[in-house]
Amino acid sequence: MESHLKQLFPAEEIHLAVHRLAAEIRRDYAGKTPLLIGILKGSFIFLADLIKALKAPVEIDFIRAASYGSGTASSGNIRITKDIDAGIENRDIIVVEDIVDTGLTLNVILKHLTARNPASLKLCALVDKPHRRQLPIKIDYLGFHAKENFLVGYGLDYNEKYRYLPGLYVME
Ligand code: IMP
Repeated sequence: MESHLKQLFPAEEIHLAVHRLAAEIRRDYAGKTPLLIGILKGSFIFLADLIKALKAPVEIDFIRAASYGSGTASSGNIRITKDIDAGIENRDIIVVEDIVDTGLTLNVILKHLTARNPASLKLCALVDKPHRRQLPIKIDYLGFHAKENFLVGYGLDYNEKYRYLPGLYVME
């Protein structure tokens, strides 16, 4: 393990949080088949664990947005680089995001999806960093709050590194 990474949420805690979120979603969508839309790339592990924990019929799709520039700060100039494949009109949609930071990316994605008239649209996020927010975002299902600035692991990267780590770590 790299010495500049400090564990914040171990895999066992993430597992419990994912199962708690799955139970909430299962209860709220009983009898329905929601479409879970994961935001690439960071949410892929979270989405996979979430649908396994759900043990209920769901469908999945992916969307990807990019902000110009790299590193740890969002530049605010966001465009959708991979759209969902299917129509979502009259579907129950749950957007699955790894971490909500400034809210700039989600603001663009949620507006983009809302414009297509889904029956409902909710947001499930593994981590919220409210101190970083620039635009208000309502999170319907949330795993953890974090006060730290930048996390890696469990799908989250820093310049494509550390996604494979089973827990969530703070970069120091
Ligand atoms: P935004 O600032 O809320 O628009 O965040 C955009 C994206 O930046 C998120 O979907 C994440 O993929 C990425 N991101 C934000 N904060 C972190 C972090 O702490 N670690 C890794 N990726 C992050």
